[in-house]
Amino acid sequence: VKLEMRLAGGLPRVVEIFVGESVRGLPALLTDRFHGRSLYWIWDETVWSLWGSGWDEAGEDRRVAFDFSEGGKRLSGVEALARELARRGADRRSVLVAVGGGVAGDVTGFLASIYMRGIPHVQVPTTLLAQVDSSVGGKTGVNLPEGKNLVGAFHQPELVFMDPRFLETLPLRELRQGMAEVVKTALVGDEKLWAFLESFEAGLKGVGGDPEALAYVISSCCRLKASVVEADEREGGRRRVLNLGHTVGHAVERSSGYTIPHGDAVAMGLVAAARLGVALGETSPDLPDRLEALCRRWGLPVAIPSRYSPEALVDALKTDKKRLGRTLHFILPVRPGQVLDYPDPDLDRLKQVLRKVGEAS
Ligand SMILES: NC(=O)c1ccc[n+]([C@@H]2O[C@H](COP(=O)([O-])OP(=O)(O)OC[C@H]3O[C@@H](n4cnc5c(N)ncnc54)[C@H](O)[C@@H]3O)[C@@H](O)[C@H]2O)c1
Ligand SMILES: [Zn+2]
Repeated sequence: VKLEMRLAGGLPRVVEIFVGESVRGLPALLTDRFHGRSLYWIWDETVWSLWGSGWDEAGEDRRVAFDFSEGGKRLSGVEALARELARRGADRRSVLVAVGGGVAGDVTGFLASIYMRGIPHVQVPTTLLAQVDSSVGGKTGVNLPEGKNLVGAFHQPELVFMDPRFLETLPLRELRQGMAEVVKTALVGDEKLWAFLESFEAGLKGVGGDPEALAYVISSCCRLKASVVEADEREGGRRRVLNLGHTVGHAVERSSGYTIPHGDAVAMGLVAAARLGVALGETSPDLPDRLEALCRRWGLPVAIPSRYSPEALVDALKTDKKRLGRTLHFILPVRPGQVLDYPDPDLDRLKQVLRKVGEAS
């Protein structure tokens, strides 16, 4: 499948998104596309060790295997990578190709936005999270000790290339993190994807070995994300719907000192949003139970561990609110495929709901 995301503002731009083809065809595609420009392939070291053998198309001097893991998503990582490229002679006519998860994509995309004042880049996401979420939309950046993603830029890739076969080596725990964003996407705007998730009996373990199912899931998520980003590239309004589950999710993540992984926290946040929606009379009353059942099938947690008290979570949420501006935009699911933006819900009501989500399961 080939999707196109068309962006307005300044010069009209098109981002091509390929889903379901073999990465082996990519070098030829890129050579054709970026005729005469030098390609620099930046691989996540782990992905290189798993998938690099036999890959000599790029030539060694045009390939960097970089350790994006421990603290790699920092300005110091950007500098190290920039210096490596400079030593190898990358210039304004070069194109960066990021092969790896969301960290490799965010760091390489950010470097591309500032290297020689900006060069093109291509994303080749290799985790489910990166394929369904982070590689599409043009947000790039790094963390600071003071907070995640505080330094960054909008820099759209020219092209995104998703080969579901990469996911064969992805640990189940990482696959699950991506599934949380898939469930979110279905709730936000894809009723058919939701029905698929409800009926796919093999669940998390089965999907990993089912490239067709994966290609369907990935292309559905990219289609929705692309349409949301087309309408609102810089998150002025519509793009906010993608934060469904992330308000409470971030509070849980932060309160846990990031020991609870993002996707798991988002799953808990989705359940909280659904229960809050029912309490506020906005959400179909059967949704929370259906959502919990669906999360269980996909290996996702539905209950917030009791050591994170509703009071502490609401405090964490108020910190978010301070940072993001006066209004807390809470996204609520109405039914699968439909959400609404609910500004500033009553936080005491939210505490009651969080107490319930904590007791669940
Ligand atoms: N830019 C955006 O819009 C956006 C959106 C969501 C998340 N993010 C960012 O994405 C990052 C998380 O991305 P992630 O979950 O992909 O993490 P990641 O890049 O750290 O990858 C997770 C782990 O999987 C390994 N890995 C990658 N591909 C593999 C494969 N095919 N087989 C085996 N192992 C593989 C990696 O080496 C790493 O250890 C966070 O930094 C987050 O802030 C960005
Ligand atoms: Zn997320």
